[in-house]
Amino acid sequence: MEYNTIFAKSFSRHEQKKLGVTAFLGSLIILLSIFTVFRPSFRHLPILNLRVSMRAGLAMLMFEDTRSSPQESIPIKHAGEGGPFISLPAPFIAEAEEIKQEMKPVCNVFEERSDFCNIDGHIRVHGNSSTIYFASSQVGGWAGNESWRLRPYARKTDLTAMGSVTQLSVKPITANQIAPSCSVNHSVPAVVFSIGGYSGNHFHDFADILVPLYVTSRQFDGEVQFLITNVKAFWLLKYQTALKALSRYDIINMDKDNDVHCFPSVIVGLQYHTELIIDPSKSVNGYSMSSFREFLRSAYSLKRKRAIKISDRRRKKPRLLIVSRKRTRSFTNGDDIVKMAKSLGFAVVVAEPGMTGLSQFAQIVNSCDVMMGVHGAGLTNLVFLPTNAILIQIVPWGRLEWLSTHYFGEPAVRMNIRYMEYRIKEEESTLIQQYPRDHAVFKDPMSIHKQGWNALKSTFLDKQNVNLDVHWFRRTLLEALELLHH
Ligand SMILES: *[C@@H]1O[C@H](CO)[C@@H](O)[C@H](O)[C@H]1NC(C)=O
Ligand SMILES: *[C@@H]1O[C@H](CO)[C@@H](O)[C@H](O)[C@H]1NC(C)=O
Ligand SMILES: *[C@@H]1O[C@H](CO)[C@@H](O)[C@H](O)[C@H]1NC(C)=O
Repeated sequence: MEYNTIFAKSFSRHEQKKLGVTAFLGSLIILLSIFTVFRPSFRHLPILNLRVSMRAGLAMLMFEDTRSSPQESIPIKHAGEGGPFISLPAPFIAEAEEIKQEMKPVCNVFEERSDFCNIDGHIRVHGNSSTIYFASSQVGGWAGNESWRLRPYARKTDLTAMGSVTQLSVKPITANQIAPSCSVNHSVPAVVFSIGGYSGNHFHDFADILVPLYVTSRQFDGEVQFLITNVKAFWLLKYQTALKALSRYDIINMDKDNDVHCFPSVIVGLQYHTELIIDPSKSVNGYSMSSFREFLRSAYSLKRKRAIKISDRRRKKPRLLIVSRKRTRSFTNGDDIVKMAKSLGFAVVVAEPGMTGLSQFAQIVNSCDVMMGVHGAGLTNLVFLPTNAILIQIVPWGRLEWLSTHYFGEPAVRMNIRYMEYRIKEEESTLIQQYPRDHAVFKDPMSIHKQGWNALKSTFLDKQNVNLDVHWFRRTLLEALELLHH
C-alpha cells in the first residue's frame, strides 16, 4: 500500500543492506563535493542560519583576521552574508569578538504589538530621511534579513493608529553605499520612538507610549537621548515632567532635523507587554507597574505612598475623587452623588482631567483614597493613586464589561489598587430616552457590537450619559468604606 513497503518488497534483505551502504557513501560524496566546490559561498546555505553554524562561521573569520597586518584596516565579512567585504577600522574587531558571544537579530519583528530593534555598534541616525544606519557585525544570518522597515509605535496591527506613524528604515552600512558622516557625536545610547498613533488620548498616552517608554529607557537612569518622530508640541509639554525624569537630554525632533546623530547604541521602538501592564519577568531590572508608579511619584513629587486605613482612633475623612466627564458618558446627577457620598463620611473632590495641567491633576488623584468614574480615558489617572486605594469603575449600558475590566480593572489590580465595578441598569442609562425598551440596544447589545467598533462606539460610548441610582450605588460606596478599614 505505502510506497515504502512496495519499494522494500522488491529487494531482498541483502540487497537492502547494500543499498543502504551505497546511499550513505553516495550522500557523503555529494556532501563533500558541496563543500569542496561551493566552499567560498557556503554561507549562503540556509542551514547556516542556525546559531551554531553562525558561530562556526565567525570562528573562521577570526582565523582569517589573524593573518592580516594589524596596521591595515581589517576586512570583516558579515556573518551569513556572502557579499562584498567591508573595511572597518581596527576597533570594530573587538566589537565583533564581543558580539560573537551572543548573536541576536538586530530587529525583532515577531512581537504581537511592537517591532523593536536593539543595535550596538556605530549607529548613525538621519532624522530627515527616517533612516538608521548601523555598522555592526550583528547583521544577517537571521532568515537573511539585513535591513528592516518599522513604525516605532506599540500598536502595530492597528492600521488606523499606525497610519500616522512614520516608517523608519534600519539598515547596515555596506561597501557599495556611502553612509552619511556624523555631524553630532553622542556618548549616550538613544531611544527612537513615535508619538503619532492615538497619542492625545490619555489612555493611549500611557498604554502605548509612557509605560513602554519607561520599560525601555528607565535602565539608563536619565543617560539616554530620545529621538522622537510625529512630534506634537502639546504632547511634549503635557508630559514634560515624566520625559525629563527619563532623559536628561533635550529631545531631538526627528522630523525637523537634518543632522546625522551618531550613537554607541540605539533602541528603535518601545517594549510593550499588555495594556497598561508591565510584566516583570519580561523587563530589564524586573520593572513592574509598582516601580512605574514609584517613578511617577518621584517625578511628580507625589506625597502619598499608601491610601488611608480607617481606624477608630484617627478621625480623618477618607477622600473620594469623582472623575467627571463633560461631553460623553457624563453623570447627569453629579450633585446627588456628591451629597450621598458626603453623608457617608467622605470628603468629596470633583475634578475633570484636562481642565488643569497633568502635574496638578496627579496631585489631586494622589490625595484621594477612592476614585470613581464612568469608563473612559480619564480613569487612566489611576496610575497616580496611592497604593491600596480603590477604583470604582462605572460600566455604562451595552455589554462593556470586557472592555472595562481589560483596560482598567486588570491594570488596577496589577498596581495594587483595589478594584470595584458598578454595572448600571437600563434605567440608569440615558439611552432609555433615545430608544424604545424593546430595541436591540437593550434586548441584544451584542448585535450592536457585531456591527463593528464604530457602531459600538457611537451607540454606547458617544451617546450615553449616566443617571446613577444613588440609593443603589450607596451600597457600593459603603463597601468601599469597609475595604478602607483593611
Ligand atoms: C524581515 O523583514 C521583513 C520586512 O520588514 C519582515 O516581514 C520579516 O518578518 C523579517 N524577518 C525576520 C526574520 O526578521
Ligand atoms: C565624531 O566622531 C568621529 C569619530 O570619532 C569623528 O571623525 C568626527 O569628526 C566627529 N564629528 C564631530 C562633529 O565631532
Ligand atoms: C530634508 O531633506 C530635504 C531634501 O531631501 C531638504 O529639502 C530639507 O530642507 C531637509 N529638511 C531639513 C529640516 O533639513
